[in-house]
Amino acid sequence: MMPIVDMLVQHAKKEKISMHMPGHKAGMLFSCSHSFLTEEYASFFSKLAEVARHDLTETIGVDSLHDPKGAILKAMELTASVYGAASSFLLVNGSTCGVHAMIYSSFSKGDTVFVSSDCHMSVFNALMVIGCNVVVLPVKVDEETLIPLAITPQDVRKAYEMFPDSKGIVMTRPNYYGVCADLLSISEIVHENKGVVLVDEAHGGHFGFSSKVPESALSLGCDMCVQSAHKTLQSLNQGAFLHIADSKYKDKVFKALKVIETTSPSFLILATLDFTREYMKNTGREKLDKLSDILKDFAYRLGKYEAYRIFDGCGFEKDITRLVLCVKGKGVHLAKTLADRGIYCEMYNENCVVFIVTCADDKAVLDHLFDNLVSVYGDLAEVEAEEKGIKVYKDDIRKINLPDFDTYTNYEFETVDVGKAVGRTSSQFVIPYPPGIPVIYPGDSITHIHADICRRYCIERINVIKYS
Ligand SMILES: Cc1ncc(COP(=O)(O)O)c(C=O)c1O
Repeated sequence: MMPIVDMLVQHAKKEKISMHMPGHKAGMLFSCSHSFLTEEYASFFSKLAEVARHDLTETIGVDSLHDPKGAILKAMELTASVYGAASSFLLVNGSTCGVHAMIYSSFSKGDTVFVSSDCHMSVFNALMVIGCNVVVLPVKVDEETLIPLAITPQDVRKAYEMFPDSKGIVMTRPNYYGVCADLLSISEIVHENKGVVLVDEAHGGHFGFSSKVPESALSLGCDMCVQSAHKTLQSLNQGAFLHIADSKYKDKVFKALKVIETTSPSFLILATLDFTREYMKNTGREKLDKLSDILKDFAYRLGKYEAYRIFDGCGFEKDITRLVLCVKGKGVHLAKTLADRGIYCEMYNENCVVFIVTCADDKAVLDHLFDNLVSVYGDLAEVEAEEKGIKVYKDDIRKINLPDFDTYTNYEFETVDVGKAVGRTSSQFVIPYPPGIPVIYPGDSITHIHADICRRYCIERINVIKYS
């Protein structure tokens, strides 16, 4: 059952003229011939016109995302039942808007909040907007590859000893490398301390659909979580879910979403969220089980090639569908070589290349990757390894001094070379993308290590507060 898709299909069948937004009027002009379009562009737009027929607005008979009463409400209810949530919200501005909504509805100005240091920038932005005291918890790091792992329950306990009035935690699980923190234990500790557990599960929308992938945050005791359905599931970009474990959170989350989410939601994104849910409900387990077999076979065959090592999470739970290939100092070269061969990865650095595998992939795709890895293996041996890189994350539990939002936006700043920034105060978040995790916070006093981290990410100039 796909109520949103059904709504769009039924609307498209009606004989009508559309005197409403969007102004492209169901893509009318995309399929006409225009002198400024080359043949190739014309073909692009005529295909787009097919899709644009369904790019609607909230007219009569079409439900509203901000006041759902019909098809969208039904789709949200179906989503909650598939994910085992008290309520689920469909999002069209990515997990980013879900993160803001979770945080706005859970914390108040002056609250102390624990944050795993591998959190996405949306987490820090949202906490800064509200004016929370942010205490960063360290993620363990694999010393060999410098891959960030996860926070530990022990550190959460320690953090409560240091900051007993903390109102809860915002944490990423899984991280960009598929590593999962022990959420069950962390939830218990935070709940013992009457805190709220918010999980950024942007990369884990497929969790819980099969025993071959980690359990979902909702089943491990979180209070709310967000999932980018466009990252590991089947939605168009920007499609995401926000799930809540208890209906007591519903009104506040809904209010927060009204504040931050667009009032012109894409019905195309919503339709793909409808599809995603039904796809995962009907075929998720079978598909993930099969993928797991394919990936195990892939790892087994690649085992013969010593210079390739598939990252296994270093003792933490690890999502098998996040394929991280460690290649000691040759990650950049390998990623670029594969791109030359038409294989594009999600992320790379000196030591590894990260590939996202989803239900849309099959054995043929993994075989193709495997064949290419084998075929470049000899050349890779000849390449000089780069230095190992630099450890980005700090080891201690620490309160960071984020400015309030007003101060932040009004900083008088100047842009200087990173070398010259040492000793000055950063006026910005420095955020390499991917993975979108801040490595310098506004208000940080810039050190030589910060400067090295910037250079490592090819960031040559940064903004610092002007001397008064
Ligand atoms: C861990 C994490 N959280 C949140 C986000 C934001 O998600 P979205 O792009 O869906 O807004 C990202 C995006 O890369 C992410 O990696």
